[in-house]
Amino acid sequence: MMARSWEPWHSARAMRCISCGHVHGLREVIYRCGACGDLLDVLYPRPAEAGASLAATFRHRQSSDRLVDRSGVWRFRELLPFYDDESQIVTYPEGNTPLLDAPRSSQYAGLRRLRFKHLGFNPTGSFKDYGMVAGVTQARILGMRAVACASTGNTSASLAAYAARAGLAAIVLVPETGVSFAKLSQSLDYGALTIMVRGDFDQAQNLLRRLAPRLGIYILNSVNPFRLEGQKTVMFELLEQLGWRAPDRIVVPGGNLGNSSSFGKALRELEDLGLLSKRPRITIVQARGAAPLSEAYESGHSERLVTVHANTLATAIKIGAPVSWKKAARAVDWSDGWVTSVTEQEIADAKAMIGRDGIGCEPASATTLAALRRLAAEGTDEQVDPDENVVAILTGNVLKDPDYTVRYHQSSLYEEYRSETRMIDHGPALASAFANPPVVVDATEAALAEAIETRLHMR
Ligand SMILES: Cc1ncc(COP(=O)(O)O)c(C=O)c1O
Ligand SMILES: [Zn+2]
Repeated sequence: MMARSWEPWHSARAMRCISCGHVHGLREVIYRCGACGDLLDVLYPRPAEAGASLAATFRHRQSSDRLVDRSGVWRFRELLPFYDDESQIVTYPEGNTPLLDAPRSSQYAGLRRLRFKHLGFNPTGSFKDYGMVAGVTQARILGMRAVACASTGNTSASLAAYAARAGLAAIVLVPETGVSFAKLSQSLDYGALTIMVRGDFDQAQNLLRRLAPRLGIYILNSVNPFRLEGQKTVMFELLEQLGWRAPDRIVVPGGNLGNSSSFGKALRELEDLGLLSKRPRITIVQARGAAPLSEAYESGHSERLVTVHANTLATAIKIGAPVSWKKAARAVDWSDGWVTSVTEQEIADAKAMIGRDGIGCEPASATTLAALRRLAAEGTDEQVDPDENVVAILTGNVLKDPDYTVRYHQSSLYEEYRSETRMIDHGPALASAFANPPVVVDATEAALAEAIETRLHMR
């Protein structure tokens, strides 16, 4: 694909369309360009501080006792200044995730040096917290009464937690089947209205997009550009951990493609600020059964996306119509990166190998190691040199999907299976005084609207 021109700054804070360049106000409740319908970037004037001086400002905050300084997101706030006043900032705090050596995994991939940046070390156990903290901050600034998302499980866990911390009503839509119990348990416990839609993620996302404006709720899927502002800080943290010496390649799983999009924006900004020694090749990995962007690249037509009906046991990335694909493609092209896909078997084995390093991750994250092994050994669609300095991004904690892990190790993981959690009735039941049961609805606007309106009127 031709590299699109990509100006990282704007004369004033605003949202700007990635296609037609139309500029929108920072406080408009919109997710897409009003002129052409494409995705929006949040932009700012170039910060006054740059280079070593800006790096020193970030570094000094690590020894501060203030939560906004300790947060792995807000420590970098010169690069996401969409708030007016620090009192508006929501924080858990989040981020500050480790960069881990992984000798067994490096050997498995045939690479001299592979390290994992493990975003599963976040308050709700996945990378989503980096972006959700920014999205919920914007929701609060906008005075929204409720926030909502469609989710494969991790976004809903994160949204539920951050909305609870910020005192906002939370509504999450998950597919009725396929979401892990661990993730479902989080959104229930954090008090979100948890709606199980009789459909898949892509349907849930579409329903929410149509319904949200009517119900006055703020969408915090990664189509929301403020989420991506928070997720940029994964790159700021990583580069700081590496002494601002960029790796040759950054490998990241791809689902809705928000992460890869935000990494590209972050690196583009760092380059302009003199904090990027070279462009690491952004390499996105999808599951073979949910690989629309990978298919576009392999066919040589990365300017067009053909959506697919997604199918993979890596449920976090079971997404057939990724919203942020154009931003992800922009990042890949700018960095001379690549998009590939891996099989269920490759994912399962790679996940076990990451476990052997004492690290562990959820299945979606293991796509990274699976791809590296194939690309370094076989160089099929892209050649990875064994001497490359590679960082792979692990997106979710191993405890997010225990069923998958136990089944693998018991040799009972099937490409198609339904899991049922059985509980044996035993003795007297406890009273569930604070129960927050999931609500199951048909994949229609009417059913969904009724479920949401009932809850919002109860508050
Ligand atoms: C664990 C995990 N990895 C990867 C992804 C995909 O990230 P993105 O949608 O930003 O491509 C998700 C998204 O839900 C996820 O939960
Ligand atoms: Zn536009």
